[in-house]
Amino acid sequence: MATVSLKSINKWFGSSQVLNDISLEIKDKEFVVFVGPSGCGKTTLLRIIAGLEEATSGDIEIDGEEVSSAHPIERGISMVFQSYALYPHLNVFENIAFPLRVAKMPKEELEKQVMRAAETLRLTDRLQHKPGQLSGGQRQRVAIGRSIVRHPKVFLFDEPLSNLDAALRGEMRVELAKLHKSLDATMIYVTHDQVEAMTMADRIMVLSEGKLEQFGTPMDLYHRPKSKFVAGFIGHPKMNFISTTCLSTDSFGLTVELPVIGKQLLPVESPNANRDEEIELGVRPEDFILSETGKGLPFKVEVLERLGGSTLVYGTLDKYPNFCAMLQGDADVHEGELVNLDVNPANFHVFDSKGIAMMRREVPEILE
Ligand SMILES: Nc1ncnc2c1ncn2[C@@H]1O[C@H](COP(=O)(O)OP(=O)(O)O)[C@@H](O)[C@H]1O
Ligand SMILES: [Mg+2]
Repeated sequence: MATVSLKSINKWFGSSQVLNDISLEIKDKEFVVFVGPSGCGKTTLLRIIAGLEEATSGDIEIDGEEVSSAHPIERGISMVFQSYALYPHLNVFENIAFPLRVAKMPKEELEKQVMRAAETLRLTDRLQHKPGQLSGGQRQRVAIGRSIVRHPKVFLFDEPLSNLDAALRGEMRVELAKLHKSLDATMIYVTHDQVEAMTMADRIMVLSEGKLEQFGTPMDLYHRPKSKFVAGFIGHPKMNFISTTCLSTDSFGLTVELPVIGKQLLPVESPNANRDEEIELGVRPEDFILSETGKGLPFKVEVLERLGGSTLVYGTLDKYPNFCAMLQGDADVHEGELVNLDVNPANFHVFDSKGIAMMRREVPEILE
């Protein structure tokens, strides 16, 4: 059992606050990802959980036990960093064995532990190699091996894949997901890459400027982002935004004026805007379809990226530049052309003037 509970964590470095009242309950065996742009406080929060940094205020419990003032070693936690921090003069076996040697584990048991970790991480045929003779992915696996042998209650990872090339990152994502299943351990993983967060996490915490924006499952964040920040951060290619004004609201939702389409009712629960108030609409690229009636949103096609299974179309929607639509298959569109795009009204995300999302009506048959 290893739950992690954060209660109102605040952190100041001098006069700047880098973590603002973070509270979070992580379940036993959960894979939780902290995601957010560079500098938003992810590493600081991870180091506070590990005991390498002290919170200015707030409490941390691991397994129901208050550990805020406990030494890192007493917390039963192991941390893997972006820089692998391997000993260059030691071979793979000794690098993995290092924490066990420090703990003076008997030779036979030590060998068993190292061999088991090496097998899990497919390093058995590399045990005699020095780090300098390994690829980036193998080095990162050795660093993970060194943390596995300690059987920590909680694994902490700080951007462990950032130094790897794209193909290897994809492979290591799958490896880490498998590792999480086979070790049955609680894991907290920090990244600035929303694809890593979406593909690996049971639940994701989105951080922005030291504040918790939203904590939920990947699909929660994708379908029901609570703020414009989360909506724009989660999903690839990114959500497009249109600023407009609210024409009216009623119990069905909120009405806006859209180019060519005219008045459009957007189905949101208890619309939080007054008449003539500025609001923002968000549309995911994958929610556009080519209009068959010619009455959809006017879109000037500028650049095409044909991926085979889908076509990414970049251009200007009415007066909004830098829009992206993702059309199915090898779509019948051409550079320089003016096309019309349809969006199911239920697929619009609506944000009030402060960037807070209005809850969309759940229309299961429309929202899939
Ligand atoms: N030891 C420190 N002293 C002063 N400021 C720091 C220190 N460590 C981090 N910071 C600042 O705290 C903020 C959050 O940093 P960090 O947690 O490393 O962000 P992230 O990991 O999300 O990129 C940044 O503005 C960073 O400059
Ligand atoms: Mg960091």
